[in-house]
Amino acid sequence: MFILTSNNSIANHFIAELRDVKIQQDSMRFRKNLERLGEVLAYEISKTLTYESTEVQTPLAVAQTNLLFNQPVLVTILRASLPFHQGFINVFDKAENAFIGAYRGKHLADESFEVEMDYLASPDLTDKTIILIDPMLATGKSLLKSYQALLKYGKPAKVIISSAIAAPEGITFLQEQIPEAELFIAALDECLNEKYYIVPGLGDAGDLAYGLKL
Ligand code: URA
Repeated sequence: MFILTSNNSIANHFIAELRDVKIQQDSMRFRKNLERLGEVLAYEISKTLTYESTEVQTPLAVAQTNLLFNQPVLVTILRASLPFHQGFINVFDKAENAFIGAYRGKHLADESFEVEMDYLASPDLTDKTIILIDPMLATGKSLLKSYQALLKYGKPAKVIISSAIAAPEGITFLQEQIPEAELFIAALDECLNEKYYIVPGLGDAGDLAYGLKL
């Protein structure tokens, strides 16, 4: 598992601003910080993909370079992932994209919940590298349900899951349920609370990016 904050970098500032109870009230800055984090994680992921030797004609000569063998498919779980996804597509600008509407259904008496899904648009995923993008990896249930639903679009060759902030419970769950997935996260937090929010986390990423919902 890759954890961006295992090494210090400027990305620590983006995460600190996402978490900061005052700075996160500026929704434009919140979205921008998620986007910047998406760009950094996409860059880190790009180092692990397959490249092929290619020639580029410059005005003076031919330059030898290694370019991506295949473009990944960026899979975004609405709605909090949208600004994070923008960061990924800024880096993988030729990627195909899939969108999934998955959200927490009604909470039961013990605060547990089922994941509801009502929208899925995806290209063919056969033999592709897919990057599942969700800024908050809490229980991992939405990611699992999304991945299972995607499999009817073909079996990918490589599965990557990327989150800004993750809880250990969600990581363990996904490692058990999708052992083939590689995880790239920016920060690993302490735990989930009784409402399955990440602690210390940052609160509700969707609300902070796009406002309250009913
Ligand atoms: N989704 C969020 O937006 N925040 C959490 O802490 C967990 C899931």
